[in-house]
Amino acid sequence: MQNNIPNIIESILEHARWAPSGDNTQPWRFEITGADQFTVHCHDTRNHCVYDLKGHASQLALGALLESIAIAASAFQKQAHFSIRPNMPETQPTIEVTLTDAPDKPTDALFPYLPIRSVQRRPFKATPLTTRQKQVLESSVGDFYRVHWFEGFKEKFKLAFLMFKNGKLRLTMPEAYQTHSSIIEWRSRFSEQKVPDQAVGLDPVATRLMEWTLKSWNRVKFFNTFMAGTLLPRIELDFIPGLYCAAHFMLIAREKPQTLQDYLNAGRALQRFWLTATSLGLQLQPEMTPLIFSGYIRNNLTFTAKPDLTRYAQKLADSFEQTTKNQTDIASAIFMGRIGQGKIAYARSIRLPINSLKIS
Ligand SMILES: Cc1cc2nc3c(=O)[nH]c(=O)nc-3n(C[C@H](O)[C@H](O)[C@H](O)COP(=O)(O)O)c2cc1C
Repeated sequence: MQNNIPNIIESILEHARWAPSGDNTQPWRFEITGADQFTVHCHDTRNHCVYDLKGHASQLALGALLESIAIAASAFQKQAHFSIRPNMPETQPTIEVTLTDAPDKPTDALFPYLPIRSVQRRPFKATPLTTRQKQVLESSVGDFYRVHWFEGFKEKFKLAFLMFKNGKLRLTMPEAYQTHSSIIEWRSRFSEQKVPDQAVGLDPVATRLMEWTLKSWNRVKFFNTFMAGTLLPRIELDFIPGLYCAAHFMLIAREKPQTLQDYLNAGRALQRFWLTATSLGLQLQPEMTPLIFSGYIRNNLTFTAKPDLTRYAQKLADSFEQTTKNQTDIASAIFMGRIGQGKIAYARSIRLPINSLKIS
C-alpha cells in the first residue's frame, strides 16, 4: 500500500472509522499531532444514554476502534502502539497512538472486512454453525476470552424469550425512550450519525407506527397501556430473530473486567470476533440489554425512576443467571449476540466523513 507519510494516518483512520459503536454514536474524534502520532479523544454517553451509565458501552466501542486502527495500520506496514493518557476524567478516555515502521508485518487478514462488517437485525437462517466456523471464531478472541454458545432449539428459545422479556424493559422505560426517540433516522436506508429506520428490523407498517408513536412519551404510554404496544415490536425485534439464528453467543473474560484497559481489551476482542464472523460470511447482531441491565442490578445502580421496572429488571437478571447457571460467567461476560447465515444488511449506519471526525 502507499507509503506517503502525511496521508498514512488519514488512510488508516479512513478504514478504522467503520468500527461499531452503540447506536452509531462514534464517540471519538481524532487529533493528528505528528507524522506518526495522533490522539483519539473519546467521550462516553452516560449523561444521556441509559445503556451506558458506567461508560462501558463506549469503552467497548473505543476498544473496537483501537483494534480497527491496529488492523488498518498493518495494511500500511505500520504497527500501532496505544497508551491511555493519564489523569483524564473517567468520562473522557483519551488514547495516544504512535505508529512505527513494520516493513515485514503482513497485512492483517481481517483488513478487507473493516468497512463490510455491519449489524444485521433481521432473522437469519437457523442452520447451525459448523465445527470449523466455531473453532475459527473461538480462536479469534485470543486466550483471555472464551465463547459460550447457546445452540439448538431449546437454548435458542430460552434466549429468544429472555430477549423478548428484556424488550419490555427497553420499551416501557422512560429513560430508554430518550435514547430511542433520538437515535433513529426516519425514512432512510443509510445514516451517518444515527441508525436508519430501515435497519431497525421492523416491517414497513410497524416502522411507520413506531415513527408516529416515538414522537411523544404520552403516545408511547398510551400504546403500551391500551394497545399492547410492546408486543409487536418485541415479537419482530426480539423473539423471531432470537429463534432464527444459528446460535446466540457470549464472550466471557477469564477475569472480570474492571478497568478502562480491561474494557478496551474486551472491545478489541469483540471486534476481531465480529470481523471474523464477517470473513466467514456470517451475520451478527449484538444483544446487550440483558448484560447491561443485569450488571446494573448486580451493582445496585439506579437506572430508572420507576420502582416497578427495577423490580422487573431484578426478575430478568435472575432468569438470565438461570440461563447460564453460573453467576461468575455473567459478571465476566463482555459481549452477547446472535450469529448465523443471512443476507447482508440492506440498510445500515454509515459514518461521519473523516473531516468531521478530525479536530485540530
Ligand atoms: C458496545 C456495543 C453495543 C451494541 N449493542 C447493540 C444492541 O444491543 N443491539 C443492536 O441491535 N445493536 C447493538 N450494537 C450495534 C450498533 O448499533 C452498530 O454497530 C452501529 O449502529 C453501527 O452500525 P454497523 O455496525 O452496521 O456499522 C452495539 C454495538 C456496540 C459497539
